[in-house]
Amino acid sequence: MECSDARMLLVVLMIVVAGSRQASCNVVQFIFGDSLSDVGNNMYLTRSLARPSLPWYGIDFGNGLPNGRFSNGRTVADIIGDKIGLPRPLAFLDPSLNEDIILESGVNYASGGGGILNETGGLFLQRFSLYKQIELFRGTQELIRNKIGAEATDKFFQQSFYIVALGSNDFINNYLLPVYRDSWKYSDDGFNEYLMMTLEQQLKLLHGLGARRLIVFGLGPMGCIPLQRVLTSSGDCQEKTNNLAINFNKAAEKLLQDLSGNLPNTSFRFGDAYDMVNDVISNPDKYGFDNSDSPCCTIGRIRPSLTCIPVSRLCKDRSKYVFWDEYHPSDRANELIADEIIRKLGLSQLNTTNSFSQSTAPSPAPFS
Ligand SMILES: *[C@@H]1O[C@H](CO)[C@@H](O)[C@H](O)[C@H]1NC(C)=O
Ligand SMILES: *[C@@H]1O[C@H](CO)[C@@H](O)[C@H](O)[C@H]1NC(C)=O
Ligand SMILES: *[C@@H]1O[C@H](CO)[C@@H](O)[C@H](O)[C@H]1NC(C)=O
Repeated sequence: MECSDARMLLVVLMIVVAGSRQASCNVVQFIFGDSLSDVGNNMYLTRSLARPSLPWYGIDFGNGLPNGRFSNGRTVADIIGDKIGLPRPLAFLDPSLNEDIILESGVNYASGGGGILNETGGLFLQRFSLYKQIELFRGTQELIRNKIGAEATDKFFQQSFYIVALGSNDFINNYLLPVYRDSWKYSDDGFNEYLMMTLEQQLKLLHGLGARRLIVFGLGPMGCIPLQRVLTSSGDCQEKTNNLAINFNKAAEKLLQDLSGNLPNTSFRFGDAYDMVNDVISNPDKYGFDNSDSPCCTIGRIRPSLTCIPVSRLCKDRSKYVFWDEYHPSDRANELIADEIIRKLGLSQLNTTNSFSQSTAPSPAPFS
């Protein structure tokens, strides 16, 4: 498979037949993230303590077996990609990944337990932090360069879409746990600044590697995940944790605006669904849910049940629960989150055949 000049190819495609896809260079996505976006990397990290490798993970996806997603169904990035017409990338560690598949559908580097900071998630023993994910991405670029040459490679990576979705673990599995040094070294604001400084470096690295169209997902109301609630005597959301997410989102939004304004030909955007998810949690009925405070999958009445396993009991109707397990939203909640991000950012259906000329397209171009 060759990734030749896109405009020439477009002409050829229009003259000959539509759909000779293997000859073209698809617009694909590269996804960097944590368990909210993992589609299988941790399944292959055999020493990781965060692996969705047992039923009932994946029960509402494909053949219903565990597939590497920390959910009963799809991730937010799955749904956004589907809705704007981008192929779903395989996990970086999937053994079937090769150059052709990368050119066809991109790569997903997301890893459960990973954070913006290298030190985040150390308790899980194995995970890819964002720096590590970028390092792996660099390796992917080398592979592609050897396959299709420097010029086509630059073009391929510049026309791709990028998602960066980390941060929850930097709080939940770092700052908020006293076993981590960061928890006593920093104040709330100091830690947020440290995260933003690190994220800025990482986004600039990605820009240097060709990323031009990128979205950073914000954090949800982390203080309302079932695990955080069960740690309080009242069962209420932890306001302190929610405020950390709100401050992260504010700072990240500003960072993305600044970067996008300063880097040429670059659309780096911030998308969050905090307010919507908060409303879903406070008024589940309004959105067709009947539970927004406990996991659908629990080990009997034992809480917190840190993971979902075969002996766990499932709720009767999985589409009526906001949360699938102690940490992660259900497929249906993810769909609402994806729709909210699509709405907020005005993302629209991407037409594969004309997407190459998008730099000249006005506002309807996705991610612009
Ligand atoms: C983070 O980890 C990467 C390797 O994945 C390393 O290259 C980098 O120097 C580390 N950065 C910091 C700040 O520790
Ligand atoms: C921006 O993109 C246009 C069109 O692709 C290109 O001609 C121009 O050189 C780019 N500018 C920079 C600064 O990269
Ligand atoms: C995609 O194609 C449809 C119909 O073919 C068109 O209406 C729409 O404007 C196109 N979108 C973009 C972003 O070019």
